[in-house]
Amino acid sequence: MIVRMISLAMGLADPQMLASVGKFNCGSEEWSRNLSVYLRKYAWRDEQALVTSTYLAVDEKYDLVGYVNLSWVRVKKTGPAADRVLIEGIPYQDLPALFLARLAVSSAKQGQRAGHSMMDWVDDVADASSVAVRFIALHTDEANSRAIGFYEGRGFFVAEHIEEKHQVLMLRDLFVFRVSGDITLPGPSVAGTIRVENPEPYTPPPST
Ligand SMILES: CC(C)(COP(=O)(O)OP(=O)(O)OC[C@H]1O[C@@H](n2cnc3c(N)ncnc32)[C@H](O)[C@@H]1OP(=O)(O)O)[C@@H](O)C(=O)NCCC(=O)NCCS
Repeated sequence: MIVRMISLAMGLADPQMLASVGKFNCGSEEWSRNLSVYLRKYAWRDEQALVTSTYLAVDEKYDLVGYVNLSWVRVKKTGPAADRVLIEGIPYQDLPALFLARLAVSSAKQGQRAGHSMMDWVDDVADASSVAVRFIALHTDEANSRAIGFYEGRGFFVAEHIEEKHQVLMLRDLFVFRVSGDITLPGPSVAGTIRVENPEPYTPPPST
């Protein structure tokens, strides 16, 4: 399914879409319930406060399919992410990322490739950014193996376990998608070698 993305403000101006947002449901797992409640109750608050931006995915009938919630974040160059993406000669401790804070497809529309279509749009947002962006970053529940597999299929890797939240930080290195292998940057100020290693497949922890 190819979806079209519209701003939350545009969606809420339409009474029918407002009603669909008010009963959005993307599943019964704890993370899915949280994602449903976020769109219904908090997305507009955060939009108004300029904290996050929400875009609704609609199908050809203008039915609500899902939503994407975006922000910006800085990703630490040290730690597990640095083992995968070595950036020598660049002095900054952390690097800019487009933060995919939330992504959800309504239960009735899952499994029809809407998630892929929404992620294509997120890639376009990162590519079209007028400000430098090195990663697309996201957090997902460590037990959400479906989501983790979905993101790994799109080039993300697990960069860090956030143990206290039972979540993982996943990154997609946008630089890797423009050049691959070992490259040497021209100097003098940014001289260095960028080495990219193939990420290992992620194994979810056993459920308790
Ligand atoms: C994860 C999610 C966004 C994926 O969106 P989707 O529209 O259902 O997924 P798509 O149809 O685009 O398919 C994505 C992949 O999942 C697979 N998939 C689809 N339905 C599946 C199911 N019921 N069980 C396992 N895998 C499934 C597809 O085969 C596809 O695999 P591929 O990439 O190898 O082709 C969606 O299922 C969702 O909103 N889940 C609940 C909320 C959530 O977990 N959000 C992510 C947290 S950050």
